Amino acid sequence: MQGDYVKNYRSRTEKSRRLYSRAAKVFPGGISHNIRYFEPYPFFVNAAKGKQLHDVDNNKYVDYWMGHWALILGHSPKPVADALAEQVRNGTLYGTVNDTSVELAETIQKLMPRAEMMRFSTTGSEATMYAVRLARAKTGRRVIAKAIGGWHGFNTTLMQTVNYPFESEEGPGLVQDEGQYVESIPFNNLDASLKVLETIKDDLACVIIEPVLGGAGCIPPADGYLQGLQEFAKKNGSLFILDEIVTGFRLSLHGAASIYKLEPDLFTLGKIAGGGMPIGIVCGDKDVMSLADPVSIKEKEARCAIGGGTFSANPVTMAAGLATLNFLKKNKQVYSKIDRLGSMARKGIAKIFAEEDIPCQVTGLNSIFLTHFGVDAVKDASDVANSNKKILTKYHLALMADHGIFFLPTKMGAFSYAHDESDVKKLLAATEKIAQSGILK
Ligand SMILES: Cc1ncc(COP(=O)(O)O)c(C=O)c1O
Repeated sequence: MQGDYVKNYRSRTEKSRRLYSRAAKVFPGGISHNIRYFEPYPFFVNAAKGKQLHDVDNNKYVDYWMGHWALILGHSPKPVADALAEQVRNGTLYGTVNDTSVELAETIQKLMPRAEMMRFSTTGSEATMYAVRLARAKTGRRVIAKAIGGWHGFNTTLMQTVNYPFESEEGPGLVQDEGQYVESIPFNNLDASLKVLETIKDDLACVIIEPVLGGAGCIPPADGYLQGLQEFAKKNGSLFILDEIVTGFRLSLHGAASIYKLEPDLFTLGKIAGGGMPIGIVCGDKDVMSLADPVSIKEKEARCAIGGGTFSANPVTMAAGLATLNFLKKNKQVYSKIDRLGSMARKGIAKIFAEEDIPCQVTGLNSIFLTHFGVDAVKDASDVANSNKKILTKYHLALMADHGIFFLPTKMGAFSYAHDESDVKKLLAATEKIAQSGILK
């Protein structure tokens, strides 16, 4: 990697560099979530408030990563911080049922009536694992269809065709046989997807799909794509599962299902629903969810085994999630604001790079966005894999080092309610400087 921005980054992050060398001795790769590493080393954060991250070397960054896109109200927003402070005084883990969990579930159900029943877990990875297990239990079939590049967390079942090259194994530790019951379909190509589904239809338990590919590159669905998959699944007696862990409460208060008029049998939520605390939720059709009922289904063989987790439905997460959803319900302007900022950013970035003759596509919708260099169109994960990630990394690192603006390199950005128009202006001014500097050519 070359350029003054790397030098600048190193000289501003001396303490982070030392911390990283300590971290690399205790964590493989120095991190606990693979995507948090970037070159030359990540800066270490010791505080965050509103739209800002603060690092151990006293640098401040306007944050567009926003806790894996979970923090729709920004870092430590007052209503959530107050609810957390009160809850922590009243206990952090009861290890038994609590009233706030019922309130949070009822709130979700009112906003998303298809959540006839739900189960809370601690991570999204568990929620998607539960969802596909329920689908297998309901249908008595084995095969799960997912999108190429689709990311549903680190559970073993869905850890297939996530990383490029998609057709190769995801690496040692996963038994090859585990992959034989997962089929992958090309996102946004309905004909090709249906052809794949047709070949496995007798054993197809479910289709699980993100309405907008998130981790794979911020790609909205083509018209009719999701509806076509849903139609096939329903006709075929398979479950249609929408993974709304990113999109739920981000694209709208009622999720992507309401935007695209979908009726998933099951769907998963996470991130925003936990108000900055760990959460995953599997929800949907009562008949399907009831297969996991340990009270009325006494025989072990008849019951779908989901629903563990020492920390599931813990009162701290419940309080933070409820405070967040209550705020969103009362303040509908959150969405008009963050969506407007998203649209300004997408248009502004595309215009700047076009003026500088740097070919790129800016994808996204509402409050999420990502720039892809050197491609004409971005409709699936392969287009993203074929884009120029080196240029994107340089762009993001230059924003970080020289302009105090943080995107997790190569990952999509998200606005929060704590951002405002001045942030977009700063982002665009910085983008213009970087584009004009020649480092991206
Ligand atoms: C669409 C989607 N599903 C599932 C997950 C997994 O959630 P978690 O990281 O909470 O396990 C993620 C995480 O980014 C996600 O983006």
